[in-house]
Amino acid sequence: MTVPAARDRLIVALDLPDLNSAEAMVERLGEAVNFYKIGLELTYGGGLELAKRLARDGKKVFLDLKLHDIPNTVARATAQVADLGATFLTIHAYPQTMQAARGAIGASSLRLLAVTVMTSYDDNDLNEAGYRFGVRELVARRALQAREAGVHGLVLSAEEAPAIRKVVGPDTLLVTPGIRQSGGDIADQKRVMTPARAIAGGADYLVVGRPVTQASDPRAAALAFTAEIGGASK
Ligand code: C5P
Repeated sequence: MTVPAARDRLIVALDLPDLNSAEAMVERLGEAVNFYKIGLELTYGGGLELAKRLARDGKKVFLDLKLHDIPNTVARATAQVADLGATFLTIHAYPQTMQAARGAIGASSLRLLAVTVMTSYDDNDLNEAGYRFGVRELVARRALQAREAGVHGLVLSAEEAPAIRKVVGPDTLLVTPGIRQSGGDIADQKRVMTPARAIAGGADYLVVGRPVTQASDPRAAALAFTAEIGGASK
């Protein structure tokens, strides 16, 4: 697998309340950022139009929609996202969902990322929800099922990346949020990792939100992340 340029490995999460502030942030970041994540909040606030515009302008777009429905609905929604020009789309790591989405990307360049177990879940939460596996076991099981379904990558915490890399091998894309530069404000994240350690642990792409979007100089912050990614990739 060819390693993308450092700038393409930084995905900035546009977790902003409305379209105007998201567009202003994209404008401010300019050439410093090439890849944006649009999540549920902004999607429901007009984010799909922004996604289309970003893709038309040559930016890469990660639509974090976490699809999960009956196979027909997942397939049709995935085809719509592919038409829109997105690069990454998240789906929940249920075998039916993954197979349906994989069958629907056609010749597009859309890549699917499976969410194995939400990081807000612990073993008790899984037990409560009726699962017979704990978090570690279920993450590993679903990572393998994702690979079998032909899903291109996984979203997971940087802490899980080294162990999961061993399970899935070199070709699965690992995308990790919860990234902070050393000494950075961790806000509500519980387990954070620096860009350099995440890359060394096997992450392919890093998702960074507030450390860039809430910085006094977002562009400088993004460039600092890219520099650290570049340093760790050598
Ligand atoms: O601002 P911050 O860098 O913490 O944002 C991280 C982004 O990654 C947010 O969009 C958040 O929803 C997302 N994310 C996460 N942890 C996960 C999955 C996604 O922080 N396990």
